Amino acid sequence: MEIQTSNLAPVGKAARVRSMFAEIAPRYDFLNSTLSLNIDKRWRRFVIRKVADRLGGPDARALDLCCGTAELSLELGALAPTTGIDFCHPMLELGAKKIRGSQLPIDLVEGDALNVPFNDSTFDVVTVAFGLRNVDGAEAGLREIHRLLRSGGRGAVLEFSRPTVPVFRTLFHFYFTRLLPRIGNAVSGSSFAYQYLPESVQAFPDQTALASLMQTVGFSDVRYYNLFGGVACLHLGTKQNQESQSSPAQEQSTLSPPPHRRIT
Ligand SMILES: C[S@@+](CC[C@H](N)C(=O)[O-])C[C@H]1O[C@@H](n2cnc3c(N)ncnc32)[C@H](O)[C@@H]1O
Repeated sequence: MEIQTSNLAPVGKAARVRSMFAEIAPRYDFLNSTLSLNIDKRWRRFVIRKVADRLGGPDARALDLCCGTAELSLELGALAPTTGIDFCHPMLELGAKKIRGSQLPIDLVEGDALNVPFNDSTFDVVTVAFGLRNVDGAEAGLREIHRLLRSGGRGAVLEFSRPTVPVFRTLFHFYFTRLLPRIGNAVSGSSFAYQYLPESVQAFPDQTALASLMQTVGFSDVRYYNLFGGVACLHLGTKQNQESQSSPAQEQSTLSPPPHRRIT
């Protein structure tokens, strides 16, 4: 299993996010499953159910942006050849170990989700799970997803969002902003990661704002599914057939792939 390396020169938010995930990487999967009582796994499986119909063709390909330890990449790889991309090497190393054991057709690329080293219209499905909130600009991330999709392809964004029921929202807000940072800090050893988590969720567009943003960058048939009362939300959008498309994303040029490195 090799990890390819693409152009990486993170500064500002990207550099902070990258070093934060490098710090918590060894405990990331454990923290995810314990703090969410394994619900995160169900959410990722829900994503798979909503994109599987696009991955049945013989040349279907999937891309998992901000793939981290490759949890979602592994599920996608069971359906079609999949590429996972992330800019945090320690997270990818953990993902690479799992992929080696799985024998699934999955490649990992160490690179920036805002400058993915693939041509326009390469993938049938592009997913990002708990990653869009972390990139430097949700709109730029969505434009990149749209660029990478083939006509008729589906973009899927799984992200924390806003609980919809008022009482539950208040209780969850208390847990998320007061209790979780303490528990997370104690278990992860990172004083920053679990303060950043609720702050980044609050700064991220809510359900309707994210749906509008997806439409703005050119997605059609945009819909979303609240999960666990809106604690998380899956947004889906389709890239229109090129001939009927008139979004600004259509005008983006093809990126020439930067050099990359494989590590077996
Ligand atoms: C919360 S983790 C999610 C990992 C995985 N998708 C999952 O479902 O568990 C967020 C990941 O996004 C990655 N990330 C954040 N900004 C990125 C960027 N600009 N380019 C590539 N990866 C990025 C981080 O390195 C981290 O692995």
